[in-house]
Amino acid sequence: MQKKIQTIFKEKFGKEGTLYASAGRINLIGEHTDYNGGFVFPGAIDKEIMAEIAPNGTETVRVFSIDINEYVEFGLNEEDAPSQQWARYIFGICREIIKRGGKVHGFDAVFAGNVPLGAGLSSSAALESCFAFALNDLFNGNTIDKFDLARIGQSTEHNYCGVNCGIMDQFASVFGKKDNLMRLDCRSMEFEYFPFKADGYQLVLLDSKVKHALVDSPYNKRRQSCERVAKLLGVKTLRDATMEMLNEHRSDMTAEDYFRAKYVIAEKQRVLDVCDALVKGDLETVGKKMYETHEGLSKDYEVSCVELDYLNDIAKECGVTGSRIMGGGFGGCTINLVRNNLYDKFIETAKRKFAEKYGHEPVVIPVVISDGAHKVEA
Ligand code: GLA
Repeated sequence: MQKKIQTIFKEKFGKEGTLYASAGRINLIGEHTDYNGGFVFPGAIDKEIMAEIAPNGTETVRVFSIDINEYVEFGLNEEDAPSQQWARYIFGICREIIKRGGKVHGFDAVFAGNVPLGAGLSSSAALESCFAFALNDLFNGNTIDKFDLARIGQSTEHNYCGVNCGIMDQFASVFGKKDNLMRLDCRSMEFEYFPFKADGYQLVLLDSKVKHALVDSPYNKRRQSCERVAKLLGVKTLRDATMEMLNEHRSDMTAEDYFRAKYVIAEKQRVLDVCDALVKGDLETVGKKMYETHEGLSKDYEVSCVELDYLNDIAKECGVTGSRIMGGGFGGCTINLVRNNLYDKFIETAKRKFAEKYGHEPVVIPVVISDGAHKVEA
């Protein structure tokens, strides 16, 4: 990928730039908790977006996406927003840096990636973090701190892409560290690295290749439900709510809002339990909690779908330690914690059974916990 980017950059712009990369992410547990002030437990993975970038002395950005095979130019003012979705991510990063008082001038860029799209691995956060990190290095002498780099990515989603997301994906992509997961407290923004050594186990994703296109914005709607309940309970976010408080007010809210909040409140404790279990090397408890999360995401939060529920059932039948839908939901992949001695059998069974029912095999994506945003030595 690096060679290809360098060759194309030279061809298009007749010079050399600096290489940067950032990664997609997994999340072991703590789903839909970030925008509720709760805990998440993600890590960056060995699937990344890489870009070669060089300032061009103008106020115009010129970018080529190798994977989409498309070239776009845009200026740096608000009215210069490009129409291509992929370019809006980069434009948004430029604008959010400028809005915060940072500097961005014209640059040339070529980028490519191997983060599967639409699988729930946050390819968009990888793209945002790669450019935020690069523009901090190229134009701001690395004076923008890493939390702000993550927030710049998050605001790009809010203001230029219509997704009212939390901070998890961009945080993981910016702060990711090889062999470590990170427990982030999304209320205080304090975080801790947890070495992830699952000896005797493997982490593997099964991408259903299903993306349910939903008309209304279901992610933003989930968030609105949570905010409504928090308001009703008189707390800032659901992080500060308990199951007792929720049950006391059950008759004051819709059944839908009740179940959304019930999931979020339960998930908060599960993240803490998983961290404790991981420190003790108790992977079986980690797995048990992952199944509980799946159940909650499927029944209470309603962000799963039949295909993902089926992959979860297969994992359970095969005796896989832990399995659940990962990411925002409505398709994408399951994350599975599998004992080595079960791995081949599980993968074979999942591929066969899923294909029998849905006509195609899920894509198997083994993951290694890796570094997040960084400069790439050429
Ligand atoms: C998406 C969002 C994140 C987070 C997850 C669900 O990935 O971008 O902020 O809310 O969904 O945990």
